[in-house]
Amino acid sequence: MKILLLGKDGQLGWELQRSLAVLGQVLALSSRSHECCGDLTNLQGLAETVRTFAPDVIVNAAAYTAVDKAEGEREQAFLVNAQAVKVLAGLAAELGALLVHYSTDYVFPGNGNAPWSEEDAVGPLNVYGESKLGGEQAILASGCTSLIFRTCWVYAARGNNFARTMLRLATERDSLGVIDDQFGAPTGAELIADVTAHAIACTRRDPALAGVYHLAASGETTWCGYARFVLEQAAARGLSLKVHAEQVKPLTTDAYPTPAKRPANSRLNTHKLQEAFALTLPDWRQGVARMLTEIHEK
Ligand SMILES: NC(=O)c1ccc[n+]([C@@H]2O[C@H](COP(=O)([O-])OP(=O)(O)OC[C@H]3O[C@@H](n4cnc5c(N)ncnc54)[C@H](OP(=O)(O)O)[C@@H]3O)[C@@H](O)[C@H]2O)c1
Repeated sequence: MKILLLGKDGQLGWELQRSLAVLGQVLALSSRSHECCGDLTNLQGLAETVRTFAPDVIVNAAAYTAVDKAEGEREQAFLVNAQAVKVLAGLAAELGALLVHYSTDYVFPGNGNAPWSEEDAVGPLNVYGESKLGGEQAILASGCTSLIFRTCWVYAARGNNFARTMLRLATERDSLGVIDDQFGAPTGAELIADVTAHAIACTRRDPALAGVYHLAASGETTWCGYARFVLEQAAARGLSLKVHAEQVKPLTTDAYPTPAKRPANSRLNTHKLQEAFALTLPDWRQGVARMLTEIHEK
């Protein structure tokens, strides 16, 4: 099987390099790759890459992910998250390739308390969410065989992420306040990558499995609950902290204004994915604890 992986150096792209390797020949590209174009802003170059490599599967982990910056860079966000995805979807349809793509809970309006299911009405609150929805719609309109995984609160041991920021701030500052009225499940890039590899293998055998799926760790928390768990685990591993878990102050979203409006309810209902692919998604704490062990051992 020939797999084209785009966005190889992102949180998810990095993990996918490992998990896709068992499936076949992987051509992994970033926006800076020299051997072929992996830049999603270069639509012609991107099309040439796909036609030349003629993959059986295209996995798109590249995205414009700067949620606040997107408010002032609408065109760039739509170019990467919607227009380039439309090109990929058109080519996947033309070549008979499976397109695997990632989207977000930010396509939903974030109201209520119930976990969002795949059939719920969308209504993004910010430009990033609108652009990601544009990508989803382009894929579905193209008629290609696709897997679209909507996920949330992604983290990895590599690169910058919320857990690392909390660890740094708790060693530098005397106090820490974190938002406590947005709900979701921190989801490891490693988990998403492993589920992706499994789902690709299943969908290649049974194309009827193609579709939109919600993919997130089980359970739920708030950013404040997440921060407290990270600090608890770090203290248990002997890290010296100035702010301890129980001292993290809960904040409301209103007290921490950002350019992009964020949904209060990022909960995702993952029943469809678990049933279709016979999977059990682990509790979010399990993956976060593993990531902290990995960071601690580095
Ligand atoms: N992070 C989250 O909390 C979260 C939540 C829900 C859904 N998602 C979705 O999950 C997927 C993976 O996200 P992630 O957390 O792995 O994001 P990430 O770490 O920000 O990685 C995104 C990657 O896309 C690349 N990229 C950006 N512009 C590009 C371009 N023009 N051409 C080629 N590559 C480009 C970036 O590379 P350079 O910038 O270095 O070029 C980066 O390596 C995305 O579809 C995202 O929308 C993420």
